[in-house]
Amino acid sequence: MSIEWTPESWQSRLAQQQPVYDDQQQVSEILRTLGQLPPLVTAWEVDRLRQQLADAATGNAFVLQGGDCSESFADCNAVSILRKLKVLIQMSLVLICRSHQKVIRIGRIAGQYAKPRSASVESRDGVELPSYRGDIVNRSGFTEADRRPNPDLLLRAYERSALTINFIRALSEGGFADLHHPENWDLEFVRNTPGSRRYQELLESLSDAIRFMEVVSGTELEQLTRVDFFTSHEGLHLLFEQAVTRTDQRNRGSYNLSTHLPWIGDRTRAIDGAHVEYFRGIRNPIGVKIGNSMAADELVDLIRILNPENEPGRLTLIHRFGAERIASHLPQLAESVRRARLNVLWSCDPMHGNIQTTRNGIKTRAFDDITLEIISAFRIHNEAGTRLSGIHLELTGEDVTECLGGPANLTELDLQRDYRSQVDPRLNYEQAMEIAFLIAEQMK
Ligand code: PEP
Ligand code: CO
Repeated sequence: MSIEWTPESWQSRLAQQQPVYDDQQQVSEILRTLGQLPPLVTAWEVDRLRQQLADAATGNAFVLQGGDCSESFADCNAVSILRKLKVLIQMSLVLICRSHQKVIRIGRIAGQYAKPRSASVESRDGVELPSYRGDIVNRSGFTEADRRPNPDLLLRAYERSALTINFIRALSEGGFADLHHPENWDLEFVRNTPGSRRYQELLESLSDAIRFMEVVSGTELEQLTRVDFFTSHEGLHLLFEQAVTRTDQRNRGSYNLSTHLPWIGDRTRAIDGAHVEYFRGIRNPIGVKIGNSMAADELVDLIRILNPENEPGRLTLIHRFGAERIASHLPQLAESVRRARLNVLWSCDPMHGNIQTTRNGIKTRAFDDITLEIISAFRIHNEAGTRLSGIHLELTGEDVTECLGGPANLTELDLQRDYRSQVDPRLNYEQAMEIAFLIAEQMK
């Protein structure tokens, strides 16, 4: 039933989770404008990431993908972006120093504005309004005006993505990212804890090693002054993704140039659905989230559609089962993919299968469930003869209280203190760093 792929061929398929706009004329005009704006990334960068992911899948690097569940327009500011970058760089340093492997840093950033929702409407006190679908679609306030899908927000989201990636690029290019000055990545609120002391010790031995190598080689190590940083978001809003799809000037096909790595969410990965149709034709490396409803033969079929040439680095499978269910789901999937000799990169999202609601109705995740799922993922891949080559986390560089447990042992009471996420709960700085040390341990 294959049709010829074009950037709009998905429109003949069923598209889940799309907003319903009331002014089609306005939508068309905005999409046209969007299509004429400069891209946010280039096809060369996208190709470079695909190459690096191919390397990671064979055991030569590890992927650290993380950021907010959903970015918000309000958080598009220097402090918030800096903190996210700091925590990801600090985590990557822990992984590199402790596991002696290269790390590919990918933010859920500069475009992570569209959210799938379990219900299309939300009711409060007898009032029913459309669900909040992310700042690219509508606003989170509970009024009719806030919740009306507004096509203008497509442009506002693209502009904020551009502002964000511009700042990230400037920071990655030197000065801030210089490994000779790790104090640039310090966060002002960090307490003196065993975790923070462990990180400081790691920095000291790293500085010693750098000084030693520079003395021996007689030069300053130039490549230590910058870091590579890639962007990713869930490619959910298909009219938007189509508008930012461009034909490569070298005739290598169509690229989504709003991000390096778009992924398909667990709710929109139907084999005959619109998202799979759109994603199969773009040249970017892509991700697909897989949850408990995925069957082994279905996964093999899906991989063959999304990566027909079996190209290394093209496809990242991000599994998210939950600490309790991973052991009954992952082994068969890993085994089937391995037996079919399909080239994929396996990554673990220990967040989305571990959501729970407290007695007070707060959506949270327990740190212990998250760590348990990570440990199980390493073990199961090891037993299956496959390799876990990446981690996918929802985290923030802020001192929030959204997930239970961790180094400060946050309780349900603590969640009320500083819970800021509009959608899923994120690891705070301390919890994220603890996870980095845990992963590094597992990688060894
Ligand atoms: C997400 O990554 O925020 C998300 C919605 O995940 P999933 O598609 O795995 O449910
Ligand atoms: Co989420």
